[in-house]
Amino acid sequence: MKHRVGIIMNGVTGRMGTNQHLIRSIVAIREQGGVQLANGDTIWPDPILVGRNAEKLQALANAHNIERWSTNLEECLANPDDEVYFDAQTTVRRAESIKKAIAAGKHIYCEKPTATGLEESLELAKLAKDAGVKNGVVQDKLFLPGLLKLKRLIDSGFFGKILSIRMEFGYWVFEGDWQEAQRPSWNYRKEDGGGMIVDMFAHWRYVLDNLFGEVKAVSCLATTHIPKRVDEQGNEYECTADDAAYATFELEGGIIAQVNSSWAVRVNRDDLLTVQVDGTEGSAVAGLRDCKVQHRVNTPKPVWNPDIENPFNFTEQWSEVPNNQVFENAFKIQWEYFLKHLVADEPFPWDLLEGAKGTQLSDLGIQSAAERRWIEVPDLTI
Ligand SMILES: NC(=O)c1ccc[n+]([C@@H]2O[C@H](COP(=O)([O-])OP(=O)(O)OC[C@H]3O[C@@H](n4cnc5c(N)ncnc54)[C@H](O)[C@@H]3O)[C@@H](O)[C@H]2O)c1
Repeated sequence: MKHRVGIIMNGVTGRMGTNQHLIRSIVAIREQGGVQLANGDTIWPDPILVGRNAEKLQALANAHNIERWSTNLEECLANPDDEVYFDAQTTVRRAESIKKAIAAGKHIYCEKPTATGLEESLELAKLAKDAGVKNGVVQDKLFLPGLLKLKRLIDSGFFGKILSIRMEFGYWVFEGDWQEAQRPSWNYRKEDGGGMIVDMFAHWRYVLDNLFGEVKAVSCLATTHIPKRVDEQGNEYECTADDAAYATFELEGGIIAQVNSSWAVRVNRDDLLTVQVDGTEGSAVAGLRDCKVQHRVNTPKPVWNPDIENPFNFTEQWSEVPNNQVFENAFKIQWEYFLKHLVADEPFPWDLLEGAKGTQLSDLGIQSAAERRWIEVPDLTI
């Protein structure tokens, strides 16, 4: 049996909407013939692309064999044949549209952060719960090959007792003057929902909570290293949002996580995100796709002596964790889980309340930076 799922995809002409959600997830699922269920049934996603620009939408639909597109969200929400509302608009626009979609009885799946502040994120989670609609938030980093390998190591007991985590995230985002910026300009304006903390702490919350233990406290220093940038139209603008955050998190069980996030750093590491985990029995460093390990028995014994040439090549003393499986696109994996949750009621723990936890950590990070102090992270319930 084929289960058609009608999906209203809003913000689908954007960077994430087009590449990750449409092409690499929904179109890829259609090209593979849908999502297979254990009983042999198939789920067939039938999207309608929604946005402001008819020409762009039509071109995108034609390019990917999608029959339906619309510039009228209200009309789409009124159609009972489309039961899911998906949102990858810019962050400030998300909450309003999700509220309308919940009021129209749609199930919700959306990008992170769900809103720019905790109050609104929690409101969305509560509205969805009260309306009894299924809901989910993108937590793509959990499904990256590098982090899946880390999870495999954790589950195998490789680390012994985990002591600390060091995460380095970032790269140089061009200012937009002599070379085009590789990220949208709204990312650098607070009033438009931009900022490193709002953007990335939403990710760090679910990565830390899911892999290592719940985040209990945060200390954060935020800054705007690059005060002026040039936008998509070639106009200079003031950067009103933070473009770097230097944070320490305390996790349950006393694990310490130090996380540097910056769009003003040049990369001298294996990947744009690296996660080092040190445990009593072994250590690992994961990137987006790869992961290398050093076990206790392979650990060298350096002695501090700057008067001699360094006798160690430290980076060569690690070994690769093999793939041992085919890794699909992280966004596609989560879409498939969500579709199975909708049709077959399979579990889907990454809901709007989990999304709100990300926004909570962003809010507390910003508060910690403003007040220059440690802040506890209270439990979140609705
Ligand atoms: N999961 C991740 O790893 C990840 C990575 C980057 C961005 N994001 C999130 O995805 C969202 C989109 O980011 P992006 O980088 O794709 O941004 P983008 O600027 O490329 O796309 C934004 C989308 O919103 C639409 N939009 C903007 N203003 C609008 C308006 N006034 N009316 C209607 N539609 C409007 C645009 O047309 C476009 O489709 C953000 O919330 C961001 O935080 C997530």
